[in-house]
This record gives sequence, structure tokens and C-alpha cells, in this order.
Amino acid sequence: MALSNGAATPAPASSNLVLILDYGSQYTHLITRRIRQLSVLSLCISGTSPLSAITALSPKAIILSGGPHSVHLPSSPSFPDGFLRYVQENGVHVLGICYGMQLLVQKLGGEVTEGEKQEYGKMEIEVAKESALYDADDVGGHQTVWMSHGDEAVRLPDGFEVVARSTQGALAGIEDRTRRFYGLQYHPEVTHSTKGMETLRRFLFDVCGLSADWKMQDVLEEEIRTINSMVGPNDHVICALSGGVDSTVAATLVHKAIGDRLHCVFVDNGLLRYKERERVMSTFESDLHLPVTCIDASDQFLTNLKGVKDPETKRKIIGREFIAVFDEFAQGLESKLGKRPEYLVQGTLYPDVIESCPPPGSGRSHSHTIKSHHNVGGLPKDMKLKLIEPLKLLFKDEVRKLGSILNVPELFLKRHPFPGPGLAVRVLGDVTAGNALETLRQVDEIFVQGIKDAGLYDKIWQAFAVFLPVQSVGVQGDQRTHSHVVALRAITSEDGMTADWYYFEHKFLVNVVSKICNNVRGVNRVCLDITSKPPATVEWE
Ligand code: XMP
Repeated sequence: MALSNGAATPAPASSNLVLILDYGSQYTHLITRRIRQLSVLSLCISGTSPLSAITALSPKAIILSGGPHSVHLPSSPSFPDGFLRYVQENGVHVLGICYGMQLLVQKLGGEVTEGEKQEYGKMEIEVAKESALYDADDVGGHQTVWMSHGDEAVRLPDGFEVVARSTQGALAGIEDRTRRFYGLQYHPEVTHSTKGMETLRRFLFDVCGLSADWKMQDVLEEEIRTINSMVGPNDHVICALSGGVDSTVAATLVHKAIGDRLHCVFVDNGLLRYKERERVMSTFESDLHLPVTCIDASDQFLTNLKGVKDPETKRKIIGREFIAVFDEFAQGLESKLGKRPEYLVQGTLYPDVIESCPPPGSGRSHSHTIKSHHNVGGLPKDMKLKLIEPLKLLFKDEVRKLGSILNVPELFLKRHPFPGPGLAVRVLGDVTAGNALETLRQVDEIFVQGIKDAGLYDKIWQAFAVFLPVQSVGVQGDQRTHSHVVALRAITSEDGMTADWYYFEHKFLVNVVSKICNNVRGVNRVCLDITSKPPATVEWE
């Protein structure tokens, strides 16, 4: 299966693939990750995809995810017509989780009611019998699991049996081994379900007979083959390097595939961090040995952003200007090489793809997406370059693994993510107002350097400062001041899709805040953002 450019090559029947049908649960991506952690390739597509999208992938197992819906509503999302016949005829195993289980029960002729006893959070279940999902040793024992449901299956379709119940009496695990249907009312993918990984492992290997053969080395080789089959022997490719993990790994991979027909460019868009251009360019040269052209386009970006306050408009402008710069770079190469580069490499990751597609049943279409990540949603329709996105189906930690196989220096692999639109999404409102960008750079540098000095950088997923377009009254020296407020944000996360705020020691915060207020002109107040994701996002815009 090709992992590039989103176009999944039809796999042979009974491939070693687990397909997740997404019904909008906040945990769907976690199921995908957990299965990959068990070395089995899993992909996630919308739960309302047409049958042809499912059959083209020939999965050996399908997992129906949870979701915030009730099967009783006519508008609730479901698998396509013909799905049950397809899985039966092709010997595909189907596991429904939470809403997915209720959907399976209802569609197979059982009954789901609005539960009298809603179950949310940590609960206990008791395993009733040895089964496809539970080992003989589990029988009679209790397991802590993560529940999140209002509706409840009360009558099972013919052929099903109950293999686990919650201590409140609700059905927790069901199966029809003959027809290869299984259901879990709880979320095995969430770490609070203490034996959830064991249940998933049993399901994948003992029940479905999948093999643990999804390895990064294979992904690398497959990607190189795919790139070589896409890019003709005389074609040239350009790649914008940001200095971050994703674009660096993507460029190194493409360079390995096509060598010097890859032309890298680093764009200074005027929205970079403190001394970032100098630092990144020198590391590209000394550590990566990739030839990179540096273009200073800061005036062009900032002129176009002048007075623009709306976050989406800012992202769109930045996406457009990036493409204009790349087009110009491509034209320059055309004059030099006598052939126009045809492709653009982007380091788009799987979470960008998932987050840019609203879940089924959410009532949102692409146009309602809260943020279009510029990698995915912000590219203009008339772009002349074709995209190569070799990391499009990988999570961040998987990209880091791939990078280490490619010998990308640790320094790059461990860098905190930095958004494509740069400081534009960290200066709220008009980025060109006053001295906002320069002030933010100084505050951000003090905060991040403080984190490095304290040996905390690798424990934190992302840390940065935000410039707020408000002023507050302060007293500095003997003078009253009317200066800016900045916020500090540091989070821990597995993949950027959910996050917790990082708990700093009191002393660390006292030192950082005092350094900021004493050294950065125009700032007299510092706030700490202690919001997790959800409900907030990582970036403020
Ligand atoms: P959010 O703010 O969506 O961020 O919770 C999740 C991760 O994505 C990064 N991010 C972006 N990356 N273009 C990017 O390339 C963007 O427009 C963008 N917005 C957010 C963010 O820094 C975090 O790592």
C-alpha cells in the first residue's frame, strides 16, 4: 500500500490492514495509533464512506469507532448499504466500539435503547467467559475500562453472546464468532482501560490472524518506490524546508529517492522566531548536507498581512504567498535547468489530514472547518505544482522514527513543532501592528531558552509565547506603564490532537516572568495558559 499523496493503491484481497470507520469519537485516531503500535497498518476513513472506498482497501478487519450519536436518530451516521454482505462474503472481522457496537447490534436486528444508567468515565467490568476478546485467565476477574455512553444494547441479534458486563449490568463485550462480529461498549484504546491493549492484541492476532509486519524500514522502502514511480527520471521537485521535523524528514526521504533533482528552499516569511533563519540555515548546511536556497520574502508576506485580523484570512494569505514564492523559485529553476519543476514536497502529517476533515454527522462541511492547516486546506486551487506528501499517513512519533532510520540528526527530530503560518497565529489579530512580532520573538526566546536550560525541552511537546493585542496597566521602576500582555503556553501531547498543559515548578515560572518583564520593552504582564486540548486548541488562533 502506497503511503503517499493520499491515493491508496488497491490492496490485494485479505491485506494485512485494519480499517477504522470513523463515526466522530474523539478517540478514533487513538485506535489507529494503538494498532500501529502493535505493528499492524491501520487507516482511518469516514464511517459514511461509500462501499467502494472500503472494498478498494480489502481490509482484513474493520473497526467501527465510537461517536457522539444515538442510533435512534434517522440522521445518525452508518456504514453504507451492502457493508454487512461484503464483510460476510469476504471473511472480514468487524469490531464495533461504543457507538460502533450499538450500530452493529441495531443493524443486525437487535435492540438498543436509551440507557437508564448512563456510564461515563472509569468503570469496572466482569469478564463472563473465555472468548475471542478475553483470555481464559480473565474469566471471573474485574477490569477497569473507560466508558462513555448513554444508549445501551438490551437485546442481541441472533447468534451473539455476552462475554463481559459492567458491574452495573450493562453489556460490555459481545461476540458472534461464527459471523465474525464483535462489540465492546467501552474504549479499549484509552489507557484508562487497563487491559485494553491486551484485548486489541488478542483481537488482531488470535482472532483476525493479522501479522505484526508493519515496520518503518518497509514504509521507507515503499515510499522511495512510490516517489520514483511518480516522479519521472528527468523531473525536478522543489521542497520548502521550515527547519522542523516534518519538512526535514520529508526532504531527506525525497532526496534519498531522487538525489539532486530535489531543490530545497527556505523561505523567511517575516514570521519566524528569534534568529531562526540564521540558525536553521547553518544547521542545514553543517548537519544535513542538503543544498538549500534561502529566500527573504518577509516584506511580501508582511505587506499582504497588514491590517488583517481574521485568523483564517491570515492563514489563507500566508498559504497563497508561500505558493507565489515557490512558483517564482520554480521559474528561476526553469531558466537554469531548461525544465520546470513539476512537484512540491510537503510534510503534511496524518493528524493534519484527520483534523481537516470534519467527522460524519457533525453537520460540518469542509467550509466549516475551524482551522484549515495550511498544509491541507489553505493551498490555492490554481496551484501549478503537484504535491508529494510522503508523510501524509504518519503520526509525529512515526515520522521521528522514520527520520532516525534516515540518519536525520537528533537535533532536528526533537525540535518542537512550529506551525506553518509561524508567529502569525501567535500574534493575535494584526501581526504588523506596532512592534508585536519583535516583542513576541524576545519573549518566546527567553521562555524556550529557559526551558532548555532547565533540561525540560524534551519533556514538553511544544512551548511558545503568544502576543495579546491588549494593554494593561503596570508599574515598572517608579513609573506607571501601559504595556502589552503576553501568554506562555507549554503542553504535553502524544500527537498534538489532544494535549495537557505542562506543570512547571513555581521557581522556574518566577524566574522566566521576571526575566521577560525586565528585558523585553513593552511587556508588563505575563499569563500562563493552563487549558488542555480539548476544549482549547494548541495554538491560540
Ligand atoms: P492546534 O492549534 O490545531 O494545533 O491544536 C495542533 C498542532 O498543529 C500545529 N498547527 C499548525 N501547523 N499550520 C501548521 O503547519 C497551521 O496552520 C497550524 N495550526 C496549528 C500546532 O502548532 C500544533 O502542533
